[in-house]
Amino acid sequence: MLNDCNGKTALVTGAAGGIGRSCAQKLAEAGASLIVTDIDEAGIEKTVSLITEAGGTARALAQDVTQEDVWADIIGDIKAHEGALNVLVNNAGIAIGASIIDMSLEDWHRQTAINLDGVFLGCKHAIPLMAESGSGSIINISSIAGLRGAAGLAGYCATKGGVRLFSKSVAAECAAADMPIRCNSVHPGIIDTDIWGREIAGIAANNPEMMAPGGNRIDINLVAAGVPGGKPGHPDDIANGVVYLASDASSYVNGSELVIDYALTAR
Ligand SMILES: NC(=O)c1ccc[n+]([C@@H]2O[C@H](COP(=O)([O-])OP(=O)(O)OC[C@H]3O[C@@H](n4cnc5c(N)ncnc54)[C@H](O)[C@@H]3O)[C@@H](O)[C@H]2O)c1
Repeated sequence: MLNDCNGKTALVTGAAGGIGRSCAQKLAEAGASLIVTDIDEAGIEKTVSLITEAGGTARALAQDVTQEDVWADIIGDIKAHEGALNVLVNNAGIAIGASIIDMSLEDWHRQTAINLDGVFLGCKHAIPLMAESGSGSIINISSIAGLRGAAGLAGYCATKGGVRLFSKSVAAECAAADMPIRCNSVHPGIIDTDIWGREIAGIAANNPEMMAPGGNRIDINLVAAGVPGGKPGHPDDIANGVVYLASDASSYVNGSELVIDYALTAR
């Protein structure tokens, strides 16, 4: 069956909500056994409930993706409990909206630690267990901000561009070492998640009209006005692509970038 993930063990980071939760749910629907992680422990417990209530298999582990010792513990835990790891979705990420001259070095480092160091550490620790498991698909969530620049998001773009080329290098290195591990990046466009109510809202510092009524999140419809058709995407739109990359239907897809943005960057 196309997009079949039966028998696969999958780890999704940043799975307490948004794109990560949707990836976990869709992978479970496709038959994978899930480990979902996040710093938001209540959020991952909710993700596990949603998956198990729908008949899937999942368990939650608290994880800050910037901590190398925690990565070692999580992979060790999966080896002990599931005995294998076949899919890793490096999804956890933050977006800090700030002009270059206003951004603190501390914020630059914090964003890079989560978005880029976290992806590196995930690959570093997962690859040996994936190799032992006989197959692996690593899916790194980048962004259209990893394909082109954006005013007010320079630091974010730097991390997501890094994820894009890091992913291609992981693919090249595993292939050169004859390891059965693929690695691809996914580039979402404007997707309706809580990220628009978090630190990205700093891009509206000089444009308060960018905020939604209530003033606590960016007005996604305004941002999505630049998308052909004018609509934001749903987290499931990204998760469907992730399931394809996780499954054997994509067995010859390696070192590629899957852009899911409804032609926003096609023009
Ligand atoms: N929503 C969009 O429009 C969009 C577009 C392009 C790319 N992305 C990327 O998609 C991914 C998911 O974003 P989302 O839109 O679902 O946002 P979100 O804010 O809803 O989810 C991000 C998750 O990451 C978790 N997280 C943050 N720091 C963490 C850490 N140190 N360790 C572990 N978990 C941590 C958060 O708790 C949260 O659950 C991110 O990498 C983001 O950059 C999103």
